[in-house]
Amino acid sequence: MSQSENRDIRVARHYHDRTAHSSWSVRQGGHYLDWDVKPFLYKVYPDLPVIQLPRELPSLAGDALEALSGAPGALGDLTLEALAALLFFSAGITRKKTYPGGEEMHFRAAPSTGALYQTEVYVLAGAVRDLAAGVYHFCPGDFSLRRLRGGDFRQEAAQAAADPAIAGAPATVIVTAIYWRNTWKYQARGYRHLFWDSGTMLANLLATAAALSLPARLVTGFVDSRINHLVGLDPDKEASLELVPVGVEGAPASPAPSVEPIAPRIIPLSSSEQDYPLLRELHAASSLVDPDEVSQWRFATPLPGRGMPSGLLHLPGPRTRAGRDLSETILRRASTRQFAHVPISGEELSSVLFHATRGVAADFPSGLVDLYLIVNAVDGLPSGAYCYWPQAHGLELLKEGEFRGQAGYLCLEQALGFDASSVIFFLADLPSILPRYGNRGYRLANLEAGLIGGRSYLGAYAQGFGASGLTFYDSEVVSFFSPHAEGKDALFVTVLGRSVKGVPGTTVPIQISKS
Ligand SMILES: Cc1cc2nc3c(=O)[nH]c(=O)nc-3n(C[C@H](O)[C@H](O)[C@H](O)COP(=O)(O)O)c2cc1C
Repeated sequence: MSQSENRDIRVARHYHDRTAHSSWSVRQGGHYLDWDVKPFLYKVYPDLPVIQLPRELPSLAGDALEALSGAPGALGDLTLEALAALLFFSAGITRKKTYPGGEEMHFRAAPSTGALYQTEVYVLAGAVRDLAAGVYHFCPGDFSLRRLRGGDFRQEAAQAAADPAIAGAPATVIVTAIYWRNTWKYQARGYRHLFWDSGTMLANLLATAAALSLPARLVTGFVDSRINHLVGLDPDKEASLELVPVGVEGAPASPAPSVEPIAPRIIPLSSSEQDYPLLRELHAASSLVDPDEVSQWRFATPLPGRGMPSGLLHLPGPRTRAGRDLSETILRRASTRQFAHVPISGEELSSVLFHATRGVAADFPSGLVDLYLIVNAVDGLPSGAYCYWPQAHGLELLKEGEFRGQAGYLCLEQALGFDASSVIFFLADLPSILPRYGNRGYRLANLEAGLIGGRSYLGAYAQGFGASGLTFYDSEVVSFFSPHAEGKDALFVTVLGRSVKGVPGTTVPIQISKS
């Protein structure tokens, strides 16, 4: 048995501190983008036959906010059409834009740092109507599957994840990420992005499954090397991140055929690639090495609940329906590029916060990240800094005042933070999380931030306003919310507001300042 390093949590701490942004590190960084080696956005297997996915997709009828809240009603059958809808609304191309130089850019259903789309999707199919059992790669570029293995390998994934129910799920979606697609721009900090971006994609996937009345749940514990081997990826360049068994559980599959090595030819992403050992070291040190370790890891003692303060400010009751279905919500979603200085309502903010934080069916408990807010312009709420308490659906006022300047500054001096109606900062108590979950807890916390961020996007677009993910100055975010946030770490930011496009005649001044 190989030795797991998951318990040596100095690795995650070291990685986090080394990849923190400060105004000094950003100005001294010296990294330039080499456009000649910008990685190609699609993984292409030129020798594997193409299976076109159906383009007539089932509708995602039902309200988007209901789909966000999750629980499927009647239980649907996992057909090839339903699988195609799951893939399209989570990882498909939903928009194309041509830039003045003639370059055509393809945008996908879920947001992704820098539109670099390092998240790849595979499907382990066992009992999907109209699809032979096998392991497939999904290519959004031509909306197709390519078969990597024929046969029913569900038992292999079930054993690797110490999760027998996977053997009875009609299919399991396997989410991976190709490092270089993101590190080309973001260097070693890109490891954080693998989880933010797979989180936003999973937000869409889980909501789409709910809208299709298909059960789906998130599995984050598995023997990494076995899942990597199953999909035939090169572990120095790409990594399996999450599994999502989908569909009504049926009879368990028969024992899997032997999992022979495969190495299908792939078109190189660029003429040269740079390796970031810091990133690979953390991935290796957060890997689990055998099913026993997976089981023990999964049953880690949960974090103790935080003591709820008295005197919370109660938000207006969240809407249960937004009046827009999930397909329209996803098709309209695009990160807002400029916010108007007009408020959103208290009910709109309340609905985003409520629906984004109800938790998802997963093998880890929700609540690893805490939501801190700067409110710039929300009707009925004094401007200020707050901490959100999901159980009470209430806000703890930390300091009242105008913090637009600081909001813009903390978001890496980006105007989006200054202009937004509200900025949500995701912080986590890593000193408590890492001892429980090991280095893999670092993956979980970043993933939960991405999931809630992705669900916030959906909650905003369902209600007809906008959102964007943002990056930030790590320790300055914590200082801003301290002493309340003392000892925590900043993980991610999502901003909410109305786009200038929807509010004719508004332009906004840019005034970003540290204090
Ligand atoms: C995790 C995450 C971080 C992001 N960070 C930033 C950011 O710092 N600044 C920014 O302008 N956009 C940011 N974005 C928005 C992306 O640039 C955007 O998702 C991408 O260009 C794709 O466009 P779309 O969201 O409109 O489909 C972020 C998005 C995500 C999901």
